[in-house]
Amino acid sequence: MIPQSFIQDLLTRVDIVDVVGRYVQLKKGGANFMGLCPFHNEKSPSFTVSPTKQFYHCFGCGAHGTAISFLIEYSGMGFVEAVKDLAQNVGMVLPENEDRIPPAQRAENQARSMALSDVMARANDFYRQQLRTAQPAIDYLKRRGLTGEIAARFGLGYSPDEWDSLRQIFTEYENEALVESGLVIDKSEEGGGHRKRYDRFRGRVMFPIRNTKGQVIGFGGRVMDGGEPKYLNSPETPLFQKGSELYGLFEARQAIREAGYALVTEGYMDVVALAQLGFPQAVATLGTACTPIHVQKLLRQTDQVIFSFDGDSAGRRAARRALEACLPHASDNKTIKFLFLPTEHDPDSYVREMGAAAFEEQIREALPLSQFLLREIIGENDMRTPEGRAHAQFAAKPMLQALPASALRLQIVRSVAQVTQSTPAEIEALFELEKPVARVRVTPPRGKRTAPVGLERQIMRLLVAHPQLAADLDAEALQAVGNIAPDRAQMLEHLVGVAQSMGEQASFASLVEHLREGGPEFDSMIAEIASESESEFDVVRAEMAGAIRMSKIRAIEEEMQVLVGSNLRTEEERNRYRELMQHKEVLKRQAGPAVAS
Ligand code: UTP
Ligand code: MN
Repeated sequence: MIPQSFIQDLLTRVDIVDVVGRYVQLKKGGANFMGLCPFHNEKSPSFTVSPTKQFYHCFGCGAHGTAISFLIEYSGMGFVEAVKDLAQNVGMVLPENEDRIPPAQRAENQARSMALSDVMARANDFYRQQLRTAQPAIDYLKRRGLTGEIAARFGLGYSPDEWDSLRQIFTEYENEALVESGLVIDKSEEGGGHRKRYDRFRGRVMFPIRNTKGQVIGFGGRVMDGGEPKYLNSPETPLFQKGSELYGLFEARQAIREAGYALVTEGYMDVVALAQLGFPQAVATLGTACTPIHVQKLLRQTDQVIFSFDGDSAGRRAARRALEACLPHASDNKTIKFLFLPTEHDPDSYVREMGAAAFEEQIREALPLSQFLLREIIGENDMRTPEGRAHAQFAAKPMLQALPASALRLQIVRSVAQVTQSTPAEIEALFELEKPVARVRVTPPRGKRTAPVGLERQIMRLLVAHPQLAADLDAEALQAVGNIAPDRAQMLEHLVGVAQSMGEQASFASLVEHLREGGPEFDSMIAEIASESESEFDVVRAEMAGAIRMSKIRAIEEEMQVLVGSNLRTEEERNRYRELMQHKEVLKRQAGPAVAS
């Protein structure tokens, strides 16, 4: 459970305009920002983001929500994941597993990971420094056609061909963090007790691997002769997990946005060379198969991902793995394509030999996911025989099951049905595909109750839109409102309780997150508020004061009627009646100037 206070804190620090702006091109239009709605297809913008409300709303399809819901809806992240993602961007740390990891341990973990990034940053500076005077390494990079400018942009360096050159910058060479970072290898003394520690990277051109924040988290080091291995990589550390990092993503982010797609290659050198040759939107997996996390990470940055695979058999295998990693994230508003270079080529060699225009052409002609999938399914099977068609269906089943229910899946089902001489319904039934249901938020069923109307609804709506107003509500006010709508009293109490618990920082966006499972009544109010134009807080406060006054007057009038009904027999009743009368007059007088001002 993430504490609500954390969510609230997060929403006050995050700016929804930044968050949405990462995925949707926004333009300022009045108080709001406008753009093309990412949740439905449209030609002119009806999607608005309000910085004051910290809320988005689409006038076309009605989609709306906070920064958190945007991430959930847009990228398919889960709630916790979305919160984590936002928190990371504003430097907040999720109080994760608070109960499981004791605070002291957590502090230690944090300190260790800071020590690790410090070690990596210092090593990176050192390697870069070394490259300046390492003529053979400079010559090597020149021979591979790289300019100094591009080498600097990717922070390329050189690790001297010595056993312990890192001693020059780490006087504390014995420090555990050096081993943990993977920069230094600790050898047990079984070999007779000589050298215990030595640098992992020696005599290699160094490619620093950065995370999306730009911190160096690992290295790849390339030999300059035919030595083995050709590339040596940092081991996995608490900072560096190959299955979720992409080489060059930090450097490519802007270019990906400009190009409208990310190009995924297989090698370090491909990324660096492509950046120099006019394709700065390239990234690479780190000598590992592409994972669903990689795909998700990329689709968070862009709507289109194009994989480029080497023409060899390893490239084909890698493509198949990438296809499988993409399936869970394939959706109707995303495009995933695959391009296969002629055998013996990788992107670097291809562009150098055939030129940028030829590569551009390859990109244009890349195979869409659906076609590649179909090709993989058909494979070697003979579609003219029942056996061949059955084999193809057998191959298709796990892949179609991995696809989320979407229009794309339906299209693919159609194609599979066609090539295997079946009907789409047969395929869906045979493959036990879950029904293509639109994602509907499940709300707990409620008994039949009348929807709030009139005054009490106005008050609740004001409270949802401006939960800070809850602070102004006194007991009398609450009672009066509860009085006019007894069946809504509980709902109101809940709302006021939540809003008051949020304190001064209370805001519409964080209240909405509080009310996530709040039920259909709140949902319809939230939708209305999302589509309203902004109003001045003073005006809103006056409106609230007016509504509360009206409720009080109504409550008084009701009581007076009851008294009149009993014919005001006792002195006590008559006194009470007079008292109410006066109170009502006071309230009515108050209304005058408040409205006028
Ligand atoms: P390649 O062998 O295709 O090399 O490895 P490359 O990218 O074309 O590199 P150059 O052009 O010869 O310099 C592709 C990727 O596989 C990983 C690296 O990430 C490399 O970029 N790899 C390869 C290793 O991790 N270790 C190796 O020994 C070889
Ligand atoms: Mn290469």
